[in-house]
Amino acid sequence: MNLMVIDETKCRHDGICASECPLSLINQPDKNNLPSERETAEELCIRCGHCVAVCPHGALSLRSMSPKDCLPHEDDLRPSTEQAKYFLQSRRSIRVYRDKPVNRKTIAKIIDIARYAPSGHNNQLVEWLVIYDKKDVQNYVSMVIDWLRFMIKEYPEMAADFHMDLLVKAWEDGNDRVCRNAPHIIIAHGPEQNMMIQNTCTIAMTYLELAASSMHLGACWAGYFNRAAANWPPLKQALGFPEGNSAFGAMMLGHPKYKYHRIPLRNEAKIIWK
Ligand SMILES: Cc1cc2nc3c(=O)[nH]c(=O)nc-3n(C[C@H](O)[C@H](O)[C@H](O)COP(=O)(O)O)c2cc1C
Repeated sequence: MNLMVIDETKCRHDGICASECPLSLINQPDKNNLPSERETAEELCIRCGHCVAVCPHGALSLRSMSPKDCLPHEDDLRPSTEQAKYFLQSRRSIRVYRDKPVNRKTIAKIIDIARYAPSGHNNQLVEWLVIYDKKDVQNYVSMVIDWLRFMIKEYPEMAADFHMDLLVKAWEDGNDRVCRNAPHIIIAHGPEQNMMIQNTCTIAMTYLELAASSMHLGACWAGYFNRAAANWPPLKQALGFPEGNSAFGAMMLGHPKYKYHRIPLRNEAKIIWK
């Protein structure tokens, strides 16, 4: 069975599908021939769906994706450059949360948006772990504190660089500076053997943070939590990732307690033009 099906009543032989295929797996059509898949298509196709999405006539389907399965482009929904600029500039790392959980459907919606993030070879290997219950978050944070104590003892220079002693001291004084008393933690994980998994998870997490911001929710990267989840065996085991998977990003999530009124300054971009 072919990977690609062309509806000859719709195809206009314009060859856009062939031009856009990232792996050049489609033979250019001509006046008499429809576009066709190369011999290697089945093996090499990354199922990115660009051929389906770009055809103006809805003439091309993949076995796994037809034009009618895909959401239409709605240009009216695109933010203007000014709106996009404001949206991106006004996102903040939120570290003070209201004592109110985010409902599960909302979290599922944020994750649903994040799955549209780019991924290496369109591998879509990011998986998610949501620590929903705040008591569980605190329990896992106590394991991060164990890891920090281990780091202070075994790797004092690195621990000093990252002020790990201050985090431990704060915890002992009743303040959670690791996850800031966030009600929820979301972890992106995936197969540790995959060469691109770190980048793929980081980008998905960035989408997640922006999706949360669009819903007026607060999110913040949980860097210490992530390092411990990836490297501290007791925590890794307690989180119970599938065999071969590891954490590649962790995010705090909750309702922000405060509203921001200004956009803080950032360094000028350093650009080398060649
Ligand atoms: C990889 C990474 C890890 C981070 N880890 C933490 C963290 O553990 N705790 C925290 O409070 N903020 C963390 N942050 C948030 C940064 O401190 C924050 O992005 C920076 O101060 C700029 O603030 P803004 O995000 O509001 O622009 C992290 C950010 C990144 C990109």
